[in-house]
Amino acid sequence: MQKFEEKKFDIKNLVGLSDKSIEEHLKLYSGYVKHSNLILEKIEELKEDSEKNAYALAEIMRRFGFEYNGMRNHEVYFDSLSGGSTTLTTSDPLYKKIEEDFGSFDGWLASFKSIAGTRGIGWAMLYFDRKDKRLLNAWVDEQHMGQLQDCALILGLDMWEHSFVYDYQPSGKKQYIEDFFINLNWSKEEDNFKNAQ
Ligand SMILES: [Fe+2]
Repeated sequence: MQKFEEKKFDIKNLVGLSDKSIEEHLKLYSGYVKHSNLILEKIEELKEDSEKNAYALAEIMRRFGFEYNGMRNHEVYFDSLSGGSTTLTTSDPLYKKIEEDFGSFDGWLASFKSIAGTRGIGWAMLYFDRKDKRLLNAWVDEQHMGQLQDCALILGLDMWEHSFVYDYQPSGKKQYIEDFFINLNWSKEEDNFKNAQ
């Protein structure tokens, strides 16, 4: 059976986030990849007697969205912290689209940061809605609930506490959000936007 592969990332010298914290966080990502593969394997096994295993099959199937979305969300997140920080220039297509859809880049950034500060664990997301060709901000609680259907993820900010408490403590959440944007390699988001069209 085809397997999901764990991606490697080139993350170093981040502002605020230590190598140790990233190393530990990558282990969680690795777990999502392993469990996505494991669930598909287990489904194949359980299907051999689907009547007897109906309950187990339903339960494991229910877990797939959590593991798979956890894997993909982390790939976007870690990729955007890879290769060194770059800025988005006013002539970049993503910058122009943000201005078009949200009025101004700074206005969008302020509202995205505010979404990221939502109480509780989850993800702050910038999606591209392929149907209406527009950008949408969203807050996603646990990743199997609230992801926007058929929208491409352009920017994903992990706001689960495991992503920042090691370096920032729970009270440092706001600084983590600020530092995320300092560390961001916008060329990755630009690529995500290009590939989403
Ligand atoms: Fe995470």
